[in-house]
Amino acid sequence: MCGIIGYSGHRPAVPLLVEGLHRLEYRGYDSSGVAFEQAGRLQVVKAAGKLSALEAKLEENAYMLATTGMGHTRWATHGLPVEKNAHPHLSQDGRIAIVHNGIIENFQELKEELLAKGHTFLSDTDTEVLAHLIGEERKAAPSLREAFARALRRAHGAYAVVMIALEEPGVMYAARMSAPLLMGVGVGECFLASDIPAFLPYTRDVVFLEDGELARIKGPKWEVLSLADLSPVKKSVSHVPWDMQAAAKGGYKHFMLKEIMEQPRVITDCLTGRVAEEKDGPRVLLHELDALPVPSRLHIVACGTSYNAGLWGRQLLEGVGRIPTDLDIASEFRYRDPMLLPGEVVMVISQSGETADTLAALRLAREKGCKVIGLCNVVGSSIAREADVVLYTQAGPEISVASTKAMCSQMVLIALMALYYGQRNGVTDNAMLRGLLELPERLAAALPSMQERAAQLALRFASSRSFFYLGRGQCHALALEGALKLKELSYIHAEGYAAGEMKHGPIALIDPQFPTFALALDDALFAKVKSNIQEVLARQGRVIALVQEREGRTPDLQVEELWVLPASLPALSGFFALPALQLFSYQMADYLGKDVDQPRNLAKSVTVE
Ligand code: AGP
Repeated sequence: MCGIIGYSGHRPAVPLLVEGLHRLEYRGYDSSGVAFEQAGRLQVVKAAGKLSALEAKLEENAYMLATTGMGHTRWATHGLPVEKNAHPHLSQDGRIAIVHNGIIENFQELKEELLAKGHTFLSDTDTEVLAHLIGEERKAAPSLREAFARALRRAHGAYAVVMIALEEPGVMYAARMSAPLLMGVGVGECFLASDIPAFLPYTRDVVFLEDGELARIKGPKWEVLSLADLSPVKKSVSHVPWDMQAAAKGGYKHFMLKEIMEQPRVITDCLTGRVAEEKDGPRVLLHELDALPVPSRLHIVACGTSYNAGLWGRQLLEGVGRIPTDLDIASEFRYRDPMLLPGEVVMVISQSGETADTLAALRLAREKGCKVIGLCNVVGSSIAREADVVLYTQAGPEISVASTKAMCSQMVLIALMALYYGQRNGVTDNAMLRGLLELPERLAAALPSMQERAAQLALRFASSRSFFYLGRGQCHALALEGALKLKELSYIHAEGYAAGEMKHGPIALIDPQFPTFALALDDALFAKVKSNIQEVLARQGRVIALVQEREGRTPDLQVEELWVLPASLPALSGFFALPALQLFSYQMADYLGKDVDQPRNLAKSVTVE
């Protein structure tokens, strides 16, 4: 995710752009920049690092005459977060500037074509390729808007893009495809932005652009056209009654809830550019791994929720990828002098890419001569920079301290790795890959009712002082994650346990005051978990059972609360169970009045031992 803002009107544009970028920092903040016209020139100022670095480069008196401009705060997906990769980017002749949020999947192919025409590039980004493509199209197109449209029709993938050009002073063009972009209609002025907070202090009148629409703005005048044929599109203006806080959270009460509900988009973004439709079916592309031999064994090392993601994925890496896989908590791995044999690979998983124990584990593995794969969400983070190969989860900034969408994206990437290594081992699982591709739509449809169910259950169990979470196989990892979420958000003691382990002692704890959240999903271990549920019920334990329909019927479990999730392939049921567990913990914490986004004693990134 990145943050975009554009302005055309009667005020000095640059201060407005910077102010708006501050309100969009939650969408990304590894580099930023602005572009504006002044004295017949297109000027671009950009900086790596936080927005303060950009502000330090902007001397107020030199920019106050510009009344049209655009700004961008970056969350890197292509190219490191360094100044040359910051937006805006210019066309070859420097007469067109754009800012972009999204991923142009076919940018390499377009770049080759432009290089062959003599183009030279200053950055590693897909965005600069798009700017050059617009400039190239302008040579043959009858107008700037036609050139803009032709270039966008050739760009495959997701984009929200804003353009300014010297040939049309005071004008901004914009378009979107699978990435948010909206227009703020003020008095004598118009804004473009990725999200409402950017211009909320100036107007609450909003035009929501849809995929395949192109907008042209000049001061108070705006029009929306169809990207396909530039025919006019009639749009209504909506009034948004949000305050600033609500707007930054997309109207949700907390960032955590917003990030839980973003998971369908996160799955889409994580899959983008990594699945190719070929004649004999879909194929996983993970070019980052192509140069590495297939590991003789994979050692997954991580902390907290990232560890739980790895535990969830081990079964797929072995079962589908045919890669022997084991797992370590990073703070244990780094002190046990692990044996790492030739051909083995360590994979560290870290949302922040800065967790001290995980980084130490990476360094230890490398000292031992072992190749390291980093699964990260933050481009340019320490782990991303020190790993031999990095795979980015592309989940966008995760603001809430409790990790939610990051785990979902880690699970997607591990599932893709399992399929990828399966392909390299001569085994394919088209059903699972198609199941992954269908997930975003299916999960988006299920989330609203899951939130309602979670709220009902929170009301009934909020007075609990302890909770068991039980599961087997991949649900064991989800049980650990469910317990972790409940602990860190509502401060209720919770234990995640392998269901088969209960009879080896923990079942002594069961009584009516110690409820159990049992994950009894539609997989090969359902009958075993059902027996474990009976053992708990026999000791007057209260049970919430998370289930799926089996052969079109709801499982017959005599429990206090049955929570039925959509049916799915067993390997993918975790993508429905995870948000259910997250929402239950969220609703419990919210009901109990806890500080959901910043729970006590926690930090978003544990950069100390
Ligand atoms: C997750 O809700 C926790 N806040 C925490 O366990 C976190 O997952 C852990 O600290 C690892 O962080 P990382 O993924 O950034 O390395």
